[in-house]
Amino acid sequence: MNLVIFGPPGAGKGTQSKFIVKKFNLFQLSTGEFLRKEIRDKSELGLKIASIVNSGHLVSDDVVSKLIENIISKDEYKNRIIFDGYPRNIDQAKNLSNLLKKYNQKIDVVLKLSVNLETIKKRISGRSTCSICGKIYNDFYNPPPQNTDCCSSKFLQKRGDDTLSVATKRFETYEKTTEPLLEYYNQLNLLKVVNGENPIDQIYKEISEIIALIEGWLCNITPYKYAFKTYTQ
Ligand code: AP5
Repeated sequence: MNLVIFGPPGAGKGTQSKFIVKKFNLFQLSTGEFLRKEIRDKSELGLKIASIVNSGHLVSDDVVSKLIENIISKDEYKNRIIFDGYPRNIDQAKNLSNLLKKYNQKIDVVLKLSVNLETIKKRISGRSTCSICGKIYNDFYNPPPQNTDCCSSKFLQKRGDDTLSVATKRFETYEKTTEPLLEYYNQLNLLKVVNGENPIDQIYKEISEIIALIEGWLCNITPYKYAFKTYTQ
């Protein structure tokens, strides 16, 4: 099972990917997280792309394509990748399809999280991430726990591209360049739309059911094998 998780900035792609990875033993390939790590590490690539990422534009297709192929080509990740933040334009989508073909794989489903702009603003302005364990929090919806070692305020970080002006630019880039991909995947009959306005656990349950059905069908096992598991963060 390879899946694409798709949606505007702040839709909840990273949040849901982290849960799904655990439950279905998948690998989260987040191009945004990879690029932010390069920037934090001040690598040669990080220094080149910092101003692009921090202004809300997309980095070049070549940069992300190398990362994608590096993962797709490895046997340990074969047929167990969640593409989070890739593809983001038609050329990337075609490149992804070609790379998957090259390594005898395919996309099984594209999950779109639908969220409106007002929600996005709150999700982005309230977001913080624990630099120790990577958990994602939100001041409005999902506040970080008090009195813990990990996830305490000294370890919580805000992203450099989460200011209102950059987030607005990211949203514009999404609408202009990325959203047209929905029609591309709809034509391929791969698109499933999930209401991303719902609470985190409700969305997680819905996505889990979609994946379980696909996996059940692919492996010829009962699709209900996951249906009664609950999640704990
Ligand atoms: P990337 O990191 O991919 O950012 P993004 O697409 O803008 O998405 P976000 O990470 O902001 O949001 P998310 O949907 O993951 O939401 P989250 O789960 O955190 O990309 C960043 C940059 O890297 C790009 O702008 C570009 O420059 C570059 N880049 C990346 N990929 C690229 C590519 N392929 N090509 C070229 N350039 C690329 O949730 C957000 C908040 O909401 C959190 O606080 C969370 O707790 C909360 N929340 C989540 N779900 C819910 C819910 N259901 N209810 C209430 N709160 C919720």
